[in-house]
Amino acid sequence: MDLPMLQVALDCNNTAEAINVLRQVKDVIDVVETGTILVYRDGLSAVSNLRAMAPDKIVLADVKCADAGEKCGKSCKEAGADWMTCINAATVPTMSNAQKEIEVQVELYEGWDNESKMRQWLDHGIQQVVYHQSRDAKFAGQKWSEKDVENVKNLIKMGFKVSVTGGVHPEILQLFKGVPVYTFIAGRDIREAEDPHAEAMKFKKEINRIWG
Ligand code: 5RP
Repeated sequence: MDLPMLQVALDCNNTAEAINVLRQVKDVIDVVETGTILVYRDGLSAVSNLRAMAPDKIVLADVKCADAGEKCGKSCKEAGADWMTCINAATVPTMSNAQKEIEVQVELYEGWDNESKMRQWLDHGIQQVVYHQSRDAKFAGQKWSEKDVENVKNLIKMGFKVSVTGGVHPEILQLFKGVPVYTFIAGRDIREAEDPHAEAMKFKKEINRIWG
């Protein structure tokens, strides 16, 4: 089983803050996420700046695209991203047009559980989904559980590469033992740690212990 990758979600208030975190963790992580909040603040120039700092990493533009897939996909690609996110509510043509420009990850929020729509994503070459507990749901007390593990397993069975995110911290990883998760995505846990490098290392050590 391949080792899950580690993605740092840079939902920072500005690019300088994101660069500061990335500088500390870039030798540990596999994927650099230009977070939705950062893109809202600084636009796609944030993607270009992070790409310049991490030429050998996968860079994601977490734009949660809902429409105009071709133009949005092209913009993210031109800014230097390898992947971009679309929200599950986008239509299949939007996702398909985006996928022609750049590799799409579909972020699963409300109403994601529509098998016939998901099969169409696969038919259009979309391989990646992000199983997500939203920030706001986490603030309202939502926790990771066996039900989430079952959902992730079922998505993998359907043929998706599945990433897991939303208030993830190293202790959560054990819950997914034996499940070939594609990437664990951590934002606040790493960014807000006293020592982001040490926290990212905790994730890597857990990944190696559980899947290695
Ligand atoms: C927010 C996101 C975040 O990037 C993702 O959930 C990781 O952040 P955190 O670990 O802080 O929850 O997609 O929309």
